[in-house]
Amino acid sequence: MNDSDSKEIVIEITALKKAFGNNKVLDGFDLSVHRGENVVVLGKSGSGKSVLIKCVVGLLKQDSGTIKVLGNEISEMKQESLDEIRVKIGFLFQNNALYDSMTVRENLEFPMRRHWFNQTKEEIDALVKEALENVGLPHTIDMLPADLSGGMRKRIGLARTLILKPEIVLYDEPTTGLDPITGKEIVDLMMSLQKKYNISSIIISHDIQVAHKTGNKIVVLLEGTNYAEGTFDELIKSSDPKVKQFFESMQ
Ligand SMILES: Nc1ncnc2c1ncn2[C@@H]1O[C@H](COP(=O)(O)OP(=O)(O)O)[C@@H](O)[C@H]1O
Ligand SMILES: [Mg+2]
Repeated sequence: MNDSDSKEIVIEITALKKAFGNNKVLDGFDLSVHRGENVVVLGKSGSGKSVLIKCVVGLLKQDSGTIKVLGNEISEMKQESLDEIRVKIGFLFQNNALYDSMTVRENLEFPMRRHWFNQTKEEIDALVKEALENVGLPHTIDMLPADLSGGMRKRIGLARTLILKPEIVLYDEPTTGLDPITGKEIVDLMMSLQKKYNISSIIISHDIQVAHKTGNKIVVLLEGTNYAEGTFDELIKSSDPKVKQFFESMQ
């Protein structure tokens, strides 16, 4: 029994299927994430990575299979309880999903207005300040997303994802579109904030460097299934021809 076996499972996906017409995107996918673990789902473009995490947060509904998040079956939840659980799940979208017409402050306040907890103006201001300090960008508070570089927008996206202190964060391609140095900085920042707030995560990526740096466990999404699973070092040494070919094509 390894260390993670004794820890609570925060996400458990079993036999997940999702098709669009006759495009069988997920075709019996399994995955478990223990508390405090970072699981990387590696897959090529179009393999179903975004579809997978959209199913996890209930933005898409699976055709069959189960998705349990913190013990709740997502597809059976009513809107109200889904909203409650969504507060515990942060989602960093590939494009950051910042609102262009809102300032950084307004973008950061947005999740709090959506999931209203009766915070006072002072409490909201303090959370915004903490979120911006976490990502090293307090001076951008009154700027618009268009005035920021790609790396800064990603940091603001991360700040907004973390502002309600989620237990779980799902990252969709966190380094795509960034230059390698900025990408590395974002990954370092993600990992240090995860540690600070004891976050469990699924990191979706097609970048094996990201997988190497972040994943306690790597899952290879191939043919709609969890084709291979293990540590980075285990998978890179795999003798399975498809896993070998997969890693070679990703270099
Ligand atoms: N809403 C949708 N309607 C139809 N097809 C979709 C939809 N979303 C995704 N797909 C298809 O599902 C497949 C996987 O997409 P996606 O999960 O976005 O891939 P990626 O691994 O690059 O994130 C693609 O073939 C895509 O065209
Ligand atoms: Mg995607």
